[in-house]
Amino acid sequence: MKPVKIGILGLGTVGCGTINVLARNGQEIARRAGREISIIQASTRDLKKKRSCATASIKLVQDPHEVVRNPEIEVVVELIGGYDPARALVLEAIANGKHVVTANKALIAVHGNEIFAQAQKKGVMVAFEAAVAGGIPIIKSVREGLAGNRIEWLAGIINGTSNFILTEMRDKGADFADALKEAQRLGYAEADPTFDVEGIDTAHKLTILAAIAFGIPLKFKQVYTEGITRITRMDVQYAEKLGYRLKLLGIARRTNGGVELRVHPTLIPERRLIANVDGAMNAVLVKGDAVGPTMFYGAGAGAEPTASAVVADLVDVVRTLTVDPNNRVPHLAFQPDALVDLPILPIEDVETSYYLRLHALDKPGVLAEVTRILADLNISIESILQKEPHPNEETVPVIILTQRVREKNMNEAIARIEKLASIKGKVARIRLEHLNADWK
Ligand code: NDP
Ligand code: HSE
Repeated sequence: MKPVKIGILGLGTVGCGTINVLARNGQEIARRAGREISIIQASTRDLKKKRSCATASIKLVQDPHEVVRNPEIEVVVELIGGYDPARALVLEAIANGKHVVTANKALIAVHGNEIFAQAQKKGVMVAFEAAVAGGIPIIKSVREGLAGNRIEWLAGIINGTSNFILTEMRDKGADFADALKEAQRLGYAEADPTFDVEGIDTAHKLTILAAIAFGIPLKFKQVYTEGITRITRMDVQYAEKLGYRLKLLGIARRTNGGVELRVHPTLIPERRLIANVDGAMNAVLVKGDAVGPTMFYGAGAGAEPTASAVVADLVDVVRTLTVDPNNRVPHLAFQPDALVDLPILPIEDVETSYYLRLHALDKPGVLAEVTRILADLNISIESILQKEPHPNEETVPVIILTQRVREKNMNEAIARIEKLASIKGKVARIRLEHLNADWK
């Protein structure tokens, strides 16, 4: 059989990784796909740039439209990233009857509903395994491997850059800015790293996971998103002393009131497997009603781990080239006419446990005032820890862990505590999840 001809848009970290993996494992991949995969054209803005992949056999062009309009190309691999011009290029490729493989979570999370509708009309596939958790085959696992389950919740460390930063801060006492620079040097970070550290990249990925887990449309705008930029080394260390690890989690959960979609720094008991996922590694815990909790672990970023997922998608696309489009695995796991528009729960109605750090005057009765406020708002305390006062400081840090409480009540409690004359400055709050197997 003739090789399948593909074109790549963008020859950066993942573009070059994909060329290298296809070159090195081409024969093995062809044995799986049933046909050879041949990259015939690729676009890059700088034709002369020195790269970490061999491009001699590929026609390089500056204009990506040449790739999506090339009649020989059957599959377009979009590895530019971001919303524009990626959206227009992907829609044009689809309009030209080409299948698309992309690693672009921003594009899928924000424009996926439109893209999948167009792909459905044209009978082409849009595959996006690399968009979530880099090399971990989480999309395929949730969409196909767990298809017999009612997914109850999932929680994931799905941004390698922020996990790398938090790990460096904890293990090496590294500075936030230095750790971020290192993540950029290693090719983990997005072109705009605020997407990584402000939780936006995690929110993009969570949007995609929630859609395929629950059969809902992509709802990026409704994800509550809080990043790691306000995390201090002090909190990382106190949490450690209390037996917790701090991770940036994306959590999606079905509740009677609606679906929780939230991204925020989260304390997790250190004995949990997911609490020990360090560096740029990712992990996703998925709780299905039949299978129970399952955890998927692996490299969440980097050239070849991501290329591993891109190439797996290419193999899937090549295998299904001859299959009737109506009988393919649906883009969002559920049949398009079976998606359900479940309501998303506002963050004020979400229930979690909390870690609070406050700075109190070192005098009798102060803690009683604080605990009175918590009791008035029906907030049960799990434990309290008062740290040694720092020399020359009038306040002592107090750490409080609470049981599960509605966010609305906690907001009210924090507002009242901050008004006390004996409490100085702002109360730091970090949500805490136990992620027990019986959490529903
Ligand atoms: P890079 O920034 O390394 O590469 C992007 C490539 O796209 C470059 O070749 C660049 O061209 C080209 N490009 C950028 N802007 C434009 C534009 N406006 N028009 C045409 N070409 C453009 O990104 P990555 O390889 O890291 O990421 C690619 C995609 O993969 C993104 O969607 C990213 O989110 C995703 N991803 C990345 C992972 C990683 O670990 N890096 C992991 C998982 C997903 P030029 O060389 O001329 O600048
Ligand atoms: N910037 C992303 C991360 C790349 O750090 O996880 C992988 O999607």
